[in-house]
Amino acid sequence: MKDYNEIISELEALVLDNEYDITVLSNSSALLNLYLDNINWVGFYKLNGDFLYLSAFQGKPACIKIPVGKGVCGTTIKENKTLVVNNVHDFKGHIACDSASKSEICVPIYKNNKVYGLLDIDSPIYNRFTENDKVNLEKIADIISSALSMIKDI
Ligand code: SME
Repeated sequence: MKDYNEIISELEALVLDNEYDITVLSNSSALLNLYLDNINWVGFYKLNGDFLYLSAFQGKPACIKIPVGKGVCGTTIKENKTLVVNNVHDFKGHIACDSASKSEICVPIYKNNKVYGLLDIDSPIYNRFTENDKVNLEKIADIISSALSMIKDI
């Protein structure tokens, strides 16, 4: 797997001067899909009211609408913090979009300091996401949040 420092440098170069949210989200999911090993889905859900809606991603087609408070994604937004799930089968209310998924991490994303949505990554192996992954994926989420905050809604 590529070193997180290199992934972060490439991400900054790619997303910190964009004009549309979808450009930031699409290229971020493509970059992470390219460089993270043992993952089967990586993408974004965007918050609108009481629901999360599917946005840019790489992987199999996924659930399009998740209520806040439901599943790993909805719980991440409700608790407003990163969730690492080592075994999705042990998570009550987990929403299975791809039956291959065994562990998952969800990291909140902000735009202008307001909750915007989240970064969600699924893995086909148990215990995929370590403390090091969590720390670095939170840095990555911070960069994506900064990139989104620099864009004016057109
Ligand atoms: N597993 C998530 C649903 C989204 S997919 O993993 C892409 C959840 O439980 O909220």
